[in-house]
Amino acid sequence: MNKIICLKGDGIGPEIMDSAIKVLEEISEDFNFQYEMIYEDFGGVSIDKYGVPFTDDLKEKLKDADAVLLGSIGSPKYDSAPIRPEQGLLALRKYLNLYANIRPLKVSDSLVHLSPLKAEIVKGSDLVIVRELSSGIYFGEPRYYSDIEAYDTMRYNKEEITRIVDYAFKIAKLRKGKVVSVDKANVLSSSKLFRKIANDVSKNYPDVTLEHRYVDAMAMELITKPSTFDVIVTSNLFGDILSDEASVLGGSLGLLASASFSVDGISLYEPAHGSAPDIANQNIANPIAMIRSMAMMLRYSFNENKMSDLIDDSIDIILNEGCYTKDLNSENYLSTTDWTDKLIEKIKEIKNEYTI
Ligand code: IPM
Ligand code: MN
Repeated sequence: MNKIICLKGDGIGPEIMDSAIKVLEEISEDFNFQYEMIYEDFGGVSIDKYGVPFTDDLKEKLKDADAVLLGSIGSPKYDSAPIRPEQGLLALRKYLNLYANIRPLKVSDSLVHLSPLKAEIVKGSDLVIVRELSSGIYFGEPRYYSDIEAYDTMRYNKEEITRIVDYAFKIAKLRKGKVVSVDKANVLSSSKLFRKIANDVSKNYPDVTLEHRYVDAMAMELITKPSTFDVIVTSNLFGDILSDEASVLGGSLGLLASASFSVDGISLYEPAHGSAPDIANQNIANPIAMIRSMAMMLRYSFNENKMSDLIDDSIDIILNEGCYTKDLNSENYLSTTDWTDKLIEKIKEIKNEYTI
């Protein structure tokens, strides 16, 4: 039996997770996919119940799990609290050794009109951001905060950079064969090392091209010529920022899914967006990033490629048919639950092409 730890989290997390769970419940039998969902508190809800965002009990349960599905965490209510939900997320990523975060973005021709950018600019965009997830300024020591001074440490070692860059090259080999490594090597030492090691790693991949960009220039090129990119590899902080920017190329932050991998442990699947507390409990959140994250779980953790394709294709079809959530069209939209039901209808309509 496949054991999935399900962490709904905070804000819109429970709503979008319920959509994903419903989709899985509706189609798993057709594919003979057997699983057990284990629901656990995580993030703000866990702080409220147990005083910490990531409990020891959950750590134990993760030991014999096969995958983790996460909604979203965070709430303004913890903004000046001593313990924040985000600490739980960072600790979870560290605990599972998730060093590679993959955030794929593809704008299909029929959906270019959803983009805030001109169609001719965004058309053909199909890229993956490979974000280093377990080190860098998110984890570097020393760090310090007082009301008159504060600092963080951006640190990387050779091994950490090598493995993330190598991961990016492996993906690029299966795609268009182009890696762009993003850094700030004109200012930061950690970036200088990142660039050197990216050059070293590239020698093992003669069929893949490597280019470098400074992160400021990259931020610009991502919206001026997004269709020229294939695989973008970068450090934790730059990857965080660039992936939010990239996500709206397709129309909304609510579209970007993500998967996080370790060397040989279990993987975590979560939307790239946050908990959107301003729209929580209104049944208007976009569940697409969550559902696509679940589809990535089916593909990468359970090898259920057909099921994953069916979900992704059905999402594309109903978007193309004009089924939107509020973030995509504030004039003409469906609620989260109605949109999910439309998706399930579409899945049922076309599933025979996928179950054979
Ligand atoms: C993300 C989020 C997290 C991050 C936050 C919630 C800690 O923004 O997954 O991109 O910065 O990594
Ligand atoms: Mn982010």
